[in-house]
Amino acid sequence: MHITVIGVGHVGLVSAAAFAKWGHQVVGYDDDASKIARMQAGEAWFYEPGLDELMAEGVEAARLSFTGDPDEALAEAEVVFVCVGTPPLPGGGPNLSYVEAVGRSVVEHARRDLLLVEKSTVPANTGKRLEQVIDREAERLGTAHRIEVASNPEFLKEGAAVQDTLHPDRVVYGTSSDWSRDLLRQVYAPLVAEDELPVVETDVPTAELIKHASNAFLATRISFINAVSQICDRVGADVRVVAEGMGHDVRIGHRFLQAGLGYGGSCFPKDVDAFAHLASQVGYDFGLLDEVREINVGQRRAVLDKLEGELWHLSGKTIAVLGAAFKPGTDDLRESPAVHLANDLADAGADVRVHDPVALGNLAEEQPHLGQAMTVEEALADAHAVVVATDWPEYVDITPEMYRDRLAYPIVIDARNIHDPEKMLAAGLHYYAMGRQSIIR
Ligand code: UGA
Repeated sequence: MHITVIGVGHVGLVSAAAFAKWGHQVVGYDDDASKIARMQAGEAWFYEPGLDELMAEGVEAARLSFTGDPDEALAEAEVVFVCVGTPPLPGGGPNLSYVEAVGRSVVEHARRDLLLVEKSTVPANTGKRLEQVIDREAERLGTAHRIEVASNPEFLKEGAAVQDTLHPDRVVYGTSSDWSRDLLRQVYAPLVAEDELPVVETDVPTAELIKHASNAFLATRISFINAVSQICDRVGADVRVVAEGMGHDVRIGHRFLQAGLGYGGSCFPKDVDAFAHLASQVGYDFGLLDEVREINVGQRRAVLDKLEGELWHLSGKTIAVLGAAFKPGTDDLRESPAVHLANDLADAGADVRVHDPVALGNLAEEQPHLGQAMTVEEALADAHAVVVATDWPEYVDITPEMYRDRLAYPIVIDARNIHDPEKMLAAGLHYYAMGRQSIIR
């Protein structure tokens, strides 16, 4: 099939490369000329394991190309995926103006009947608004091509985006006619045949809602276990064992029950806000989601409390922050709990030194006021305390001796629960974890 992907961010670029792998003829379009130039040179513009290889495979097979020219992008398109950003607005809802702009542009540049598929995360009923825009624009321009709207949410995680896209748990699409459903069946046929995947075929608003409900539910799980971690600290229990004990119940499961500094990234914070906003717009008070957000911010407050408990005033203290990315495996800093924490520390007057294995370039660009350390050793040198803020695997190997020998005061706040508390305590460190106070006592 001839597929065009509009917007080559995390979702768009990985999806485009996967469609090409499944045998489709794919064009990636973006209005950012610098991104297009990098991808035409065969290089992804962001870090994602396995993506360069997947892109190279598509380009070599002449099934994947990139352009910044909308006419060229849509010349042969039968199915167009909208993968542009839907960033948060101050009121909590997402900014859908980029999605709308794609709708208008597609009408202008379409050369045949086509299906416009929302892959960007959008609130329920965005499809209806998009259809309205398309119909108006088609009338204005006098175009006769059939353009329908469908929803096909994406569930990939950054850092595992290639794996998640090539081997998803499920495929979900919502359509409003047999024609559009059959087109999406054809798009996913190679994947479904190979993996015998569950496919949920539904209407457009239901598909849109599946995405928001999934992300809000996962964020709720994380906040739930973080709230439990607070209780653990107060009653002397170990949250990791609590989560393990809960997770053996197959109705609960083990994943996304890791207590720590809370969730971040470009999706959960924005999508929880957007879902709460949609709920209030349609007259339902989804107070649970307000709590999910509060608990998430509260985890950072808990780290500051532990630091203040040890250091009294943070002003004038040097604090090493290990990790800047919102999770391991990515250089993405959007809504990163580590970056929020570093800023909270700086606001409290601390001299902050941030280390990250891959995200320091982005940090210098986006948060130039924060101090940086090129190595873990440099970050720790004579710092008054250290906070492990992102659970990068390389930090697991830091020994208690490394902390003890380098820090000015032996204070370690393990905000991602990566270390063995007994070893840390045995080495004489003032070690704090999240919800593991029983061991520490
Ligand atoms: C998330 C979802 O997991 C994907 O299914 C979805 O497609 C994506 O959003 C999206 O909407 O595009 P992502 O934001 O890449 O993916 O990252 P996650 O792996 O879900 O992690 C999100 C945050 O939660 C990270 O800050 C991570 O550290 C935190 N987290 C995750 C925890 O604090 N505890 C956990 O147990 C799991």
